[in-house]
Amino acid sequence: MRMYDLIYKKREGEELTSEEISYIIKGYTADEIPDYQLAAWAMAVFFQGMTAEETAHLTREVAHSGDTVDLSGIPGTKVDKHSTGGVGDKTTLVLVPLVAAAGVPVPKMSGRGLGHTGGTIDKLESIPGFQTEIDRSRFLEQVNDIGAAIIGQTGNLTPADKKLYALRDVTATVDSMPLIASSIMGKKIAGGADAIVLDVKTGSGSFMVEREEARKLARLMVEIGLELERKTIALLTDMSQPLGFTVGNALEIKEAAATLKNQGPDDLTEICLKLGAAMLTAGGYSDDMAEAEAELTVVLESGRALEKMREIITAQQGNPEILDNPELLPRAELIKEIRAEESGYISEVTAREIGLIAMSLGAGREKKGDSIDPAAGVEVLVKQGEQVEAGAALARLHTAGKYKSRLPELLERLKQAVKISPERISSKKLIQEIIE
Ligand code: URA
Repeated sequence: MRMYDLIYKKREGEELTSEEISYIIKGYTADEIPDYQLAAWAMAVFFQGMTAEETAHLTREVAHSGDTVDLSGIPGTKVDKHSTGGVGDKTTLVLVPLVAAAGVPVPKMSGRGLGHTGGTIDKLESIPGFQTEIDRSRFLEQVNDIGAAIIGQTGNLTPADKKLYALRDVTATVDSMPLIASSIMGKKIAGGADAIVLDVKTGSGSFMVEREEARKLARLMVEIGLELERKTIALLTDMSQPLGFTVGNALEIKEAAATLKNQGPDDLTEICLKLGAAMLTAGGYSDDMAEAEAELTVVLESGRALEKMREIITAQQGNPEILDNPELLPRAELIKEIRAEESGYISEVTAREIGLIAMSLGAGREKKGDSIDPAAGVEVLVKQGEQVEAGAALARLHTAGKYKSRLPELLERLKQAVKISPERISSKKLIQEIIE
């Protein structure tokens, strides 16, 4: 086989065989095929697309390009959840204890934040003492003991994806449906998932801004799941405004704790119950999403999910008292507020811009490896469609003294991101579609 012929074949819109896809991915991972040939192939895929079968082969190759996680030591079906990334998306922090408290084992591996989106591991590390680097055997032991663990990725999982993603990033080939779908699903399969729930975001704060594109991606990933015998359910959810009211690591932990006490924002509670119901259904723990949601509502209201979170934090050496006393979490030196300059209705809370502002305050990373400030972030006090009077508080910036000079510009940007109009604009539906 020659890489030249495979680039040519894809350029002409022909379908590649599983052997050809295997040759490309194995050769690239082993540094036998150079970047320039892979870049040309990725561009051909970008323009010509791939069939569902080709995408499934590609996913399999990505999944098996390095180490895989063996979760067979944990009894029962293991269901993983993946979000395509959002602003203020703290669902994992609620979902893991919620689903575990319903009796489903949750061995969760999560990532760090980059750019305008946050990451679960950064959020958890704002809890004093919390350990996210745990070796595999202890990870499995904890799940068998208490039903759940949340750790950072370990081992050499999906090296093909790491290499290919870095190449796509600099060759304008990130936004190719089959490349995105195989990248996401390949990682989930390498992580040992038997069943997968996908939270595919759409709207300004998401990766797939247009709903039609997000729907296509969700459908493709559900199809791949079917091909690879991993039951997959995708929820298409709105990310035009941040989820909940907080963006920033410690701020989000505080909000997740309130949600586990059943005192959280409506949107966050709803999405956690729906994603949890999808996890129970995908894993075969329930036959029906509505029934599963009712069961999880009882678990949440009973306080069992909160207690499960206490067990997880304790097992991972964090201070569980932060659940009762969020004042123990890191707090920002400076808090600045913006107020409504006129009366009207909130027409927009631009998720992407809020995420970028939070990053500039120190809550996120511009590039991999940057350090973050756990106390920094943005609190948005209003939601789209809400009526406000002139002078009402709209949002607050939390930051460290060293960023003081950035505040005038960031406060101005925050004002532009929380828009008021004289007419009422209803907010977008949070759960837009469920694709099975
Ligand atoms: N997220 C991923 O994990 N991979 C992609 O290709 C795009 C988004």
